[in-house]
Amino acid sequence: MHPVSQAEEHQGTRRDFIYYATAGAGAVVTGAAVWPLVNQMNPSADVQALASIRVDVSSVEPGTQLTVLWQGKPVFIRARTEDEIAAARAVSVSELPDQNAENANAAAGADASDENRALSEDGVWLVQMGVCTHLGCVPLGESGDFGGWYCPCHGSHYDTSGRIRKGPAPRNLPVPVAAFVDETTIQLG
Ligand code: FES
Repeated sequence: MHPVSQAEEHQGTRRDFIYYATAGAGAVVTGAAVWPLVNQMNPSADVQALASIRVDVSSVEPGTQLTVLWQGKPVFIRARTEDEIAAARAVSVSELPDQNAENANAAAGADASDENRALSEDGVWLVQMGVCTHLGCVPLGESGDFGGWYCPCHGSHYDTSGRIRKGPAPRNLPVPVAAFVDETTIQLG
């Protein structure tokens, strides 16, 4: 609908910091557990509006990432560089700790090949929850041993496809329901 403003991005960063500062163990998990109850008891318009959001990604250049808050959680929307895509596609699924795509848009049982995780066929767009699958901290971008994301809470390394490669996190960063509704707008949910 409208570009995410600097202020909103800043807010996202602050929230990221808060998640991190509270050490993860439950902050996000509690939110997830409480959400359906709140939704049931108080289905007000503003709460329902959060079920899906549209994000203008026209200003996201290759090699940069937009973080938006959706349903109270950060979502990373990254335009990947050719090198990032090539690195992600050079990995054999058999090397991965979690061989499931963990992608809400993919067929059940789809493997974790990068093609099954990227939002666009050219591989440029990767959309995933910015919530570590270990205990829920927010991983840092362009970090870690695999050039993807790194969660400093307990040392989980994700690659440029958001797949867990090393550390205690058990699963790849989940890809939420997402789709392009036009050339420059992604709908989450
Ligand atoms: S929350 Fe423990 S490694 Fe990310």
